[in-house]
Amino acid sequence: MRRSGVLCVQRVAVALGVLLFAGTGTVLAQDLTEESYGPMMGEVRLLVGDVSQYIDNRYWPELGEALDKLFPEFRRMEAFWTARGNDGAVELVGNGIAALRELGQAGVAMEVPPAQAGLANLRAVCGSCHEAHREADGDGFKIKGGS
Ligand code: HEC
Repeated sequence: MRRSGVLCVQRVAVALGVLLFAGTGTVLAQDLTEESYGPMMGEVRLLVGDVSQYIDNRYWPELGEALDKLFPEFRRMEAFWTARGNDGAVELVGNGIAALRELGQAGVAMEVPPAQAGLANLRAVCGSCHEAHREADGDGFKIKGGS
């Protein structure tokens, strides 16, 4: 199937539009709680898996759509950790948002290497935050005591 380059750029630009809008600090979705945090992370994990496949296949419009879903989740995380007064976690979320921006720009440019770099930066943020603020809880995980 042929993909229109112009359409690609338009649709990826939608992701950047959300970025600018979300940049105003507006929280559109429901606020996160300790109960909803884990399920939200599960969705984020699936979306990041999608992002990886879309980059490999150069599916730029789909990449834009996945980023459109990831930006608001990161804004929700930012609000959650801000409300807990956990500056370290807020900073890590900020690094994640920066990596999402890198991915968005690489998607607009339709360039694989910078997109891969953005994805690696994003995954590094996941790992850093899990190490600092997550702990095992039976079969699953929970927010680390004191985080
Ligand atoms: C700011 C901190 C932070 C960032 C950034 C972060 N996580 Fe998490 N994550 C957590 C915490 C805390 C938990 C444990 C909460 C829970 O599971 O109830 C968690 C749990 C998870 C879980 C397990 C969910 C479950 O079933 O309990 C997955 C999967 C996950 N994160 C994926 C990701 C991915 C993928 C990224 C990066 C794109 C990411 N996380 C970024 C803090 C973070």
